Amino acid sequence: MSQTFRTAIVVGASSGIGLALAEQLAASGCRVAAIARRKDRLDELATRFPNLVLPFAHDVTEFAEVPELFQQITAQLGGLDLIIYASGIMPEVGKTEFNTDKDISTINVNVLGAIAWLNQAAIRFQGSQTGTIIGIGSVAGDRGRPGQPVYNTSKAALSTFLEALRNRLSKLGVIVINVKPGPVDTEMTRHLGFKNAISADDAARIILSKTTRSREYYLEPKHHLIFAIIRRLPSWIMQRLGI
Ligand SMILES: NC(=O)c1ccc[n+]([C@@H]2O[C@H](COP(=O)([O-])OP(=O)(O)OC[C@H]3O[C@@H](n4cnc5c(N)ncnc54)[C@H](OP(=O)(O)O)[C@@H]3O)[C@@H](O)[C@H]2O)c1
Repeated sequence: MSQTFRTAIVVGASSGIGLALAEQLAASGCRVAAIARRKDRLDELATRFPNLVLPFAHDVTEFAEVPELFQQITAQLGGLDLIIYASGIMPEVGKTEFNTDKDISTINVNVLGAIAWLNQAAIRFQGSQTGTIIGIGSVAGDRGRPGQPVYNTSKAALSTFLEALRNRLSKLGVIVINVKPGPVDTEMTRHLGFKNAISADDAARIILSKTTRSREYYLEPKHHLIFAIIRRLPSWIMQRLGI
């Protein structure tokens, strides 16, 4: 870990990357508010890190609950150094399926939940002129692809929102980071059988080692080159390749 945090909120801490982040932060002595819907998972985490992990059951699509819950959590933590928004969903979408219900859920969790939580952090950090905000984006936000149109859209929107926060807050001393993982072996992706996925523990280790400056980066260094090319491919080539 490149920096020691004393207090943190991890939204989406019940599994995968968010769970690994909460575990590693708590193991470093940080007090962590762990947020997700599955309270049993959060309670189990809190049992492993007594007095360090505070579990809060919350559905991020309940946007109106966020301001009061944020105040309650920061009071209980006794401050806030870091917030990580890791909640996300990627519903299965058939090749010919256009399903607005799934699309609304994806935008609600991946984008509007992030905005609701990170706006609260932005207000606090703007006042204190310190603090770190991390959003878990994805390489999937770099292009609109046939397989996951709205998951792609959600990660592109998150990236743009985080860029705007960075452009508002960095000059005040607040660090704003968008990290873009490729495949990570978690409950979200396990059924896809990725051969090249990295572990959630490794993903969390890298994320927590790169917290000292505002930026957007790919979790895996090889993706900087690969996605520099993919971002520049003309649409007609993307269509031909079907990727
Ligand atoms: N795995 C990958 O290959 C990969 C690659 C790039 C980016 N990402 C991103 O990484 C982030 C973490 O995903 P993951 O791979 O670790 O998947 P995961 O294991 O499925 O974790 C998703 C987390 O989001 C939470 N969540 C989902 N809906 C929620 C809701 N309505 N309210 C509150 N929390 C909610 C889940 O908690 P509850 O269900 O308990 O609420 C869980 O803690 C996501 O943003 C994902 O898009 C993943």
